[in-house]
Amino acid sequence: MVGVMRMTEPEIIVVPDAAAMSQHAADEVTATLRRKPGAAISLPTGSTPEGMYDQIAQSARNGEVDLSQVQLYCMDEYLGKSGNDDNSLTSLLLKHFVVPAGIPLEHFHTLPTLDPDVHAAAERYENEIAAAGGLDLVVLGIGGNGHIAYNEPGSAAGSRTRVIDLTPESLAQADDYFAGKPVPDKAMTIGVGTLLDAKRIILIASGAGKAEIMRQALREPMSADVPASWLRLAPEKVTVILDEAAAALL
Ligand code: GLP
Repeated sequence: MVGVMRMTEPEIIVVPDAAAMSQHAADEVTATLRRKPGAAISLPTGSTPEGMYDQIAQSARNGEVDLSQVQLYCMDEYLGKSGNDDNSLTSLLLKHFVVPAGIPLEHFHTLPTLDPDVHAAAERYENEIAAAGGLDLVVLGIGGNGHIAYNEPGSAAGSRTRVIDLTPESLAQADDYFAGKPVPDKAMTIGVGTLLDAKRIILIASGAGKAEIMRQALREPMSADVPASWLRLAPEKVTVILDEAAAALL
């Protein structure tokens, strides 16, 4: 019997440093918006995308891209936290991107983490994205444990927007954002399946601290243990942009 091998792998672009990674990722976002000004997009939080946010906002100020029609969907948020909380991922995205880039607030879609029925609300958010025609572009960071958005290890390839328990590793990372205040131990995240349905997927990572998890995500067999590895199920639409340090173990 002849076995069938999956020959295609995601495109991997290795650039010298984090600044070049940010520029490349920003160019992907602005190219999408030039083609489709009302595109539905989702961008990550964390420290990795900050340079990308700045580049996109600068392009908007230079008149190189119009951000007045973009629909921006939040990808993850701590349960019980919202844009009104200083330490939330939503407020980080607001302060570091939405406001400086001049994106209309009515085009900023936030996760319903305060809803009395978070499970039903998560399903509605998923349906809202589907009703918008799905995501045209997602840009993802990667957690040290391989999470994408907040799809922690154990997340299935077909998972949808839902509430998830955060791992000790992610809680330790969140400690930095919350600076001594109690960290919520659950989050709402769009699912791996939601991400895989996007028309185009970019994953960005920089620094030596991401080298081992990038090796696992791209070179070990796909597995729920490393949720980012699921992106290889859709290699034709995935581009991974790494600086040299993050690509060192590939
Ligand atoms: C965060 C977010 C993820 C992000 C990841 C990496 O807390 N939940 O969406 O991609 O962890 O963060 P960093 O870029 O700071 O390494």
